[in-house]
Amino acid sequence: MPKDTLTITDNRTGKTYEVPVENGCIRTNALRQIKVADDDFGLMGYDPAFLNTANCKSAITFIDGDKGILEYRGYPIEQLAEKSSYLEVAYLLLNGELPTPKELDNFVHLVTHHTYVHENVKSFMDGFRYDAHPMSVLGSTVAALSSFYPEAKYTKDEQSRRIQITRLIAKMPTIAAFSYRHLMGLPYIYPDNDLSYVANFLAMVKRVGTATYKVHPVLERALDVLFILHADHEQNCSTTSVRTVGSSEVDPYSAVTAGIGALYGPLHGGANEAVLRMLREIGHISKVPDFIKSVKSGEGEKKLMGFGHRVYKSYDPRAKVIKRVADEVFDVTGKNPLLELAVELERIALQDDYFVKRKLYPNVDFYSGLIYEAMGFQAEMFPVLFAIPRTVGWCAQWEEMVLDSEQKIARPRQIYTGQKRRDYVAMDKRAAK
Ligand code: SDX
Repeated sequence: MPKDTLTITDNRTGKTYEVPVENGCIRTNALRQIKVADDDFGLMGYDPAFLNTANCKSAITFIDGDKGILEYRGYPIEQLAEKSSYLEVAYLLLNGELPTPKELDNFVHLVTHHTYVHENVKSFMDGFRYDAHPMSVLGSTVAALSSFYPEAKYTKDEQSRRIQITRLIAKMPTIAAFSYRHLMGLPYIYPDNDLSYVANFLAMVKRVGTATYKVHPVLERALDVLFILHADHEQNCSTTSVRTVGSSEVDPYSAVTAGIGALYGPLHGGANEAVLRMLREIGHISKVPDFIKSVKSGEGEKKLMGFGHRVYKSYDPRAKVIKRVADEVFDVTGKNPLLELAVELERIALQDDYFVKRKLYPNVDFYSGLIYEAMGFQAEMFPVLFAIPRTVGWCAQWEEMVLDSEQKIARPRQIYTGQKRRDYVAMDKRAAK
């Protein structure tokens, strides 16, 4: 009967060790017993960027990168995008089960009645330059929220955790809308409790000179679906940042701020903004072959933004849904002229060996920006439109980390490659370099 163990022979000593295999993994700490001498620290695992390292057990989101599968709490993303709403998915991610009608009503009511921010937030935001990127405004303002809710540091208290999570989900659209209005030089629009989560966000962004703002139902539903698609994605860079910072037992606002910072990067959530700038740089469909050639030649480390993924080695299932949403949006807004360019870029890339060999397919960011632009958002807002829905994923993962008895403060080891021990050199003894 095969045993769930690994037998390791250390050829340096001839000793063998038996290490248990659990969930397809070995505990890297089990390698510490492998030594060449009693005072040896023992073996470590070395895995820069965590290419092959699980840092947690999680029951929230499942991804199969080869099959292009994404499930939230076991529900396929395609079904949730078709049948659910963002706040229902938020409830699912946080609580593990779909809500009953009453549970959903209560959750929506709770979120709706926490959308306001303290009036001091406005004066805080007014301190930013007129052209401040809304992602930096968002991150700074969310960080500041921890000063408004000092009780948030009691992370072991379930009631405190849940009210802070509700505040984060509820206030993210308000702060995002305020950061957009600041960028546009427009007055802030306060939340309207009579509107849905998405309609309220669009009204706070778009309302100018009228007492109310009528949101087109197709655009409202399209953004709701996009929010569902962006809600969580297991241990991506920003979620890992939230878990890592949260492991010091800091409040969730400070932990989520770390996630916003990571998401801002062009290799992560900032890719949707980078895709649009790339398409504008290409400019015309006739320029696509030359651009593809420049990417393949590694010229200026140019990448095909919106392509590739650490986990998906097949089409990102979210990108498939986004393409359908794009058609519905463009029926209302008119086609984004860059769509033709994006489709041609995808067509050529998917038949080019460079991309096929590296299993580079369109990811969630490739088409989303085209929709946001068609909805009238500036490119700077695209990563903000990613951060709003990802807030519930960050919060669900943060709370799972807080409640995981195996977790403790994250503190990795290193391989030291610096100078050997040496003595201080007096100033008059130092040779010019
Ligand atoms: C998101 O992790 C998540 O789940 C993230 C996310 C989420 O929901 O949270 O899904 C959201 O961040 C999606 C990804 C958005 N980023 C981009 O679209 C930026 C462009 N993509 C690349 O930077 C890249 O594909 C990454 C960052 C997404 C993944 O990088 P990896 O896994 O570290 O892959 P790699 O850089 O090691 O690339 C492997 C090879 C390299 O070539 P070789 O060294 O083998 O010659 O593929 C090449 C890379 O140069 N490559 C690309 C490429 N992506 C990888 N070449 C051209 N264009 C690209 N986009």
